[in-house]
This record gives sequence, structure tokens and C-alpha cells, in this order.
Amino acid sequence: MSSPEISKAAKLLQEGKVVVIPTETVYGLAANIYDSAAIRAIFELKGRPSNNPLIVHIRSFEVLNEVAKNIPETALKLARHFWPGPLTLVLEKQDTILDLITAGGSTVAVRMPNHPLALALLQETGFPLAAPSANPSNYISPTSAENVRKAFGAKAPFIVDGGPCQKGIESTVVGFRPDGVYLYRHGAITKEALEAVLEGLEVKTLTTEAASPASPGMLLKHYSPKAKLIYTANVEQQLHHLQGKKIGVLSFNTHYTQPNIAYQLNLSPSGNLEEAAQGLFNALYELDSRGLDVILAEVFPEKGLGLAINDRLQRAAAE
Ligand code: TXA
Ligand code: MG
Repeated sequence: MSSPEISKAAKLLQEGKVVVIPTETVYGLAANIYDSAAIRAIFELKGRPSNNPLIVHIRSFEVLNEVAKNIPETALKLARHFWPGPLTLVLEKQDTILDLITAGGSTVAVRMPNHPLALALLQETGFPLAAPSANPSNYISPTSAENVRKAFGAKAPFIVDGGPCQKGIESTVVGFRPDGVYLYRHGAITKEALEAVLEGLEVKTLTTEAASPASPGMLLKHYSPKAKLIYTANVEQQLHHLQGKKIGVLSFNTHYTQPNIAYQLNLSPSGNLEEAAQGLFNALYELDSRGLDVILAEVFPEKGLGLAINDRLQRAAAE
């Protein structure tokens, strides 16, 4: 699939520019992995600390061997099942991978995105693309071109508009250690789905403390709207306490009827976690544009994609 937009984006990337690309999870701020100035420009634009490594996006399994080596069989099994798709594997890096990308570490995070425009662009440029989510550090991840514009304003680079992201939540990050397979970040693929492919092998979860600095994306404060966000199991009680404030509510499928709610979004009235995940970040952008004092976000069911949603909301609420 080639188009004038893809050709333009490819040309910019070849010139060492940063370009915003759509993926099935969230939009990414992409650059050529072999161009250190371009990679530095990503960190600068995002305001990202240099100790937080980037994900390398590839188009094929041949390219996997160009960026990683000594790949464990369990990793290949997961890749064969989930790629292209929202799974990121942390693997031993090839010597050619820049320290800037791995934050000086010996591992590189890799994924094959499942979006026709991202794959077309990877095909056309011929080089892999490093891409963090296309938001300023700590702000909400964007799932549409419009949200990228809201997040960066006039500083937004050229955007390849691929419409709304189908998954709406970032990739699941998985690492391989001598004592087993570890979940570094909850994401669009559930732990249950990983374990099913690994035929019952347990996928262990790193605690936030153990994960940073192993995976700094696990840092507590992240995804934060400008309005104060309160993550709560009891929205009604919070509403009772917060009289006199302009309050927004973000819920799974409950519609709250308290009169002091200024704006409310129910992510999936039918109670579907996939639908809720898809709409989550867009809802946070929407709520954050309403001039609210407080956003009350309720705790989602602690299973399947609910774990990834709760992870984001908990970090969004962190001070
Ligand atoms: O869905 C996604 O993964 C999106 C799209 C654009 O692909 N990208 C994304 O990138 O979410 P970013 O930079 O926002 O998050 C990357 C996560 C962070 O938690 C980072 O710490 C972790 O991956 N990571 C990257 N390289 C790593 C490494 N070598 N070891 C451990 N964690 C790593
Ligand atoms: Mg991010």
C-alpha cells in the first residue's frame, strides 16, 4: 500500500526527520533507528528522560535478526503467534543498535505493528523505526491524529493519519530472564492470552519497584491529564465529598445520576473491555478539554484488559 502520504513520510524519515505514525495501539513518534540525531530529536520533542528506552518497530522476521540476537524459543513462539500485533519483546540487542535507543542497556524492545500504513512505511523506508507513543512525556497517549495535534500543538511533526487506533492501549511488553517470562507492561494483549500460547507456562509480573529501572515505562506517574484525576472504587462517595467542584466522571458501564457531575463518559455501556480500552485515551483527552477541576475514574474489573486499563488510570492518578 503506497500513497503520496506514505511517500512523503518516507522521504522525511530518510532525511532524518521525526514523523508521527499510526499503529493499532496508539500513535508513535517515529525515526530511523540508525540516525542518532533523529533519535535524539524524538527524546527532545517528547521531553523524555534519556534513561527510558524506545521500542524498535520492524516489518518482518528477517529484520528481527537485524536488531536482536540469541532470541529465546519462548519469544519466537509469542512473536509467531501475535505479530504483527501489540506485543513488544525485550531481547538481547545486536551491536548495531544505538545506545540512545536502549538507554545504554544490552537489550532492545522490538515489535511488528499491525497497521497497514505503518507496515507500508517500514517497507518503503527499508529501515526499522524507533517510536515511543506520540505524546509529551507523562501526558495521555494519543489514539487519533487529532489527539496528537492537541498534545503537541504547533510543535506536532508531520502526521500520517491512519484514523482511530483499533486497540487504543499500548503494546504488552514482555521480557525473558533466566528464571522465566516476565510481563514488564500490561497492554493490549492480556497475560491470559500470553499464557495460553505458552501452553500454561506462567508469565510473572514485575512489581513497579522492580520494573524501574528495568523498564522505566513502569514508573508510577504517567498518562496524566492536566485536571486532577482521582482513581476510585467508590465514585458516589467521592461525588458526595467533592461538592462545589467541576467534576468529570469516567466509568466502565455505570451511568451515574448525581446532579453535581459536569461531564460523564461511560466507556462501554454494554460492558465490553475491548471497547473500553479502545476508547480510554480518547476519553481522557475529551475530559481534559472540558476545563474540569477533577476527573473521577472508577476502578475497572480486575481481569483481562481491565488490568491494562487500571494500570493506566492508576498512573494517571499518581502525584
Ligand atoms: O504500543 C506501543 O508500544 C506504542 C506504539 C507506538 O508502538 N509505543 C509505546 O512506546 O508505547 P513507549 O516508548 O511509550 O513505551 C515503551 C515501553 C516503556 O515502558 C519502556 O520503558 C519499555 O517499553 N522499554 C523499551 N525498551 C526497553 C528495554 N530494552 N527493556 C525494558 N523495557 C523497555
Ligand atoms: Mg508512552
